[in-house]
Amino acid sequence: MHRVGVVHVQVKLPDKFMTSGIALINKHLIPLLSDIYTDDVAKIGALLKAFNAAASFCLLLMLDSYRGHELERFMDVTGISKALYANLAAAYREKTGVPVD
Ligand code: HEM
Repeated sequence: MHRVGVVHVQVKLPDKFMTSGIALINKHLIPLLSDIYTDDVAKIGALLKAFNAAASFCLLLMLDSYRGHELERFMDVTGISKALYANLAAAYREKTGVPVD
């Protein structure tokens, strides 16, 4: 899924369309569960949980590709090296307690 994210970064698809893509998949897939397992509420519940976990994790990985790409672009534009960025992130983390990765 990370690689799928990279492909979409390369075709310059804005990241909001990855989120709306997952929402669209959910919209069409979730009703299928009740169509298929009409009388099995427990099964539908279990599948919904599993599907939600998988879809959320896929989205997380795809968006991570975008974040990595933005960071690379930021470093490219500013000329900041990876080492300097890591030092700045560590200083920020120390000062605020907020992790930056
Ligand atoms: C949840 C959302 C989406 C998923 C899971 C998804 C999945 C994929 C996958 C599996 C590939 C092939 C990646 C590869 O070559 O290794 C791909 C390629 C691509 N997707 Fe998506 N996609 C999503 C949303 C979108 C949207 C919203 C658009 C544009 C409206 C889009 C446009 C493209 C394009 C242009 C390619 C490259 C096709 C090529 O190789 O020429 N994708 N996508």
